[in-house]
Amino acid sequence: MSSSYAHSESAGWHEIPATTLGESLGAMRRMRRDMLGVVTERYERHGPVVRQGRGPMKMVNLFGPDANRLLLLDRESVFSAKKAWDLIMGRIFTNGLLLRDGDDHRHHRRLLREAFRTPALETYLERMNGMLDGMLEGWDEGGGQILSFPRIKSMALDIACQIFLGTGPGHDTRALNQAFEAAVAASMSVLRLPIPGLEFHRGLRGRRTMIRQFEGWLPERRAGHGDDFFSRFCHAVDEEGRPLRDQEIIDHLIFLMMAAHDTTTSSLTSLLYELARNPEWQERVREEIRSFAKPAVEFEDLLVMPDTIAVIRETLRRYPPLSTIPRASTEPFEWGGYEIPAGVMVTIYPIHTHHMDEWWTDPFRFDPERFLPGREEEKRHSHVYVPFGGGDHMCLGLRFAEMQIKAVLFKLLQRYRLSVPEGYRMPVQQAPISKPMDGLPLHLERIQP
Ligand code: HEM
Repeated sequence: MSSSYAHSESAGWHEIPATTLGESLGAMRRMRRDMLGVVTERYERHGPVVRQGRGPMKMVNLFGPDANRLLLLDRESVFSAKKAWDLIMGRIFTNGLLLRDGDDHRHHRRLLREAFRTPALETYLERMNGMLDGMLEGWDEGGGQILSFPRIKSMALDIACQIFLGTGPGHDTRALNQAFEAAVAASMSVLRLPIPGLEFHRGLRGRRTMIRQFEGWLPERRAGHGDDFFSRFCHAVDEEGRPLRDQEIIDHLIFLMMAAHDTTTSSLTSLLYELARNPEWQERVREEIRSFAKPAVEFEDLLVMPDTIAVIRETLRRYPPLSTIPRASTEPFEWGGYEIPAGVMVTIYPIHTHHMDEWWTDPFRFDPERFLPGREEEKRHSHVYVPFGGGDHMCLGLRFAEMQIKAVLFKLLQRYRLSVPEGYRMPVQQAPISKPMDGLPLHLERIQP
């Protein structure tokens, strides 16, 4: 397949295979629960380019790793992340990094980047390790039966408050948590009307609460030299020595909390599920962790734990927290023999590419070996494995996310053995962000030192 500016030989918009009304209605019902099933049927029935929806908005789905590369690398500058994401969450996560394009995006990404570099990551890891013992202690109380998703979520939020916002340990973040949860829920709501009582209205209120709170902390963060993201953003300057404005810092923080929190919670939950279901892998990762003979992972260990890395990669392949990546076309372009006009919502599906049997061996099997030397199936195409996206908007928090997951695993697996009942299958809600519909009940048994 190739992309180029639209030319006369390609077929027009109306010739693109389209979903029927029945399919579209069925998809709306099933999408959250079974996005992979819906889009796989769509791909098998209509092919790699599918027109979708009959409303005022033009939408097209592109399937496969070539399409991922087209959209993510955007070599011909025909896509806007801002236009697409603004429609989805622009009123709640206004001006976040993903909601910027071109030079404006590059300028802001450069300013934020410093807070994601190695020296900063080292300090975050140290802080995280200091928090984790207290957070994980007592998970086996009451017989060791826990609902893991809410536990992981609250742990990730506490970590985010301290590392992103610089709140001290023991700081009461309940109001902030509620505001944040309301904002996230609203960004996913179907009914986007600011009417009191509606989820969207609560989300807008949540955003205002966060803004007020962050404005209150700004003078202290600007004056101090903290090592949290907030303080680092306050001291970031561009090539001409210009700092970020107050509102820009606040917008980036609100977006970052969202970008980091739900994705990490989702990955950790899916990972614990697969480890509980696959005791041989759980033991293999535990052995690798034990081989370091230390209570907490250190920065230099992070890249020399191949089994742990393979297990994390396989989890993100099977359960990419962001199953869909959207862009809006700003120019006409040609793809797969069709001319696609400007003003179309173009979507790719990492979750679908991650399960294509043309590219992966036995794709529905949890098989971390596929990422280990000798197989390395992710190398079969530059864009067959895209849990963190790619190109200019590739996840800025990738290293932070992987570090946090490893830090939690390191302590959790040395403390507890995880299990689920024989035959248990986690019911997954695959969209908008992958999560267990039953909270993932897990059994934890303490390992005697
Ligand atoms: C396993 C966890 C995570 C996954 C799977 C993930 C996935 C993604 C994906 C797919 C994108 C690109 C979306 C697009 O192109 O439309 C993205 C962007 C982004 N992510 Fe993550 N993310 C994770 C964790 C984090 C964390 C922990 C942070 C911050 C500490 C973060 C910060 C960001 C930011 C700032 C962007 C926007 C980058 C830009 O527009 O330049 N993410 N993430």
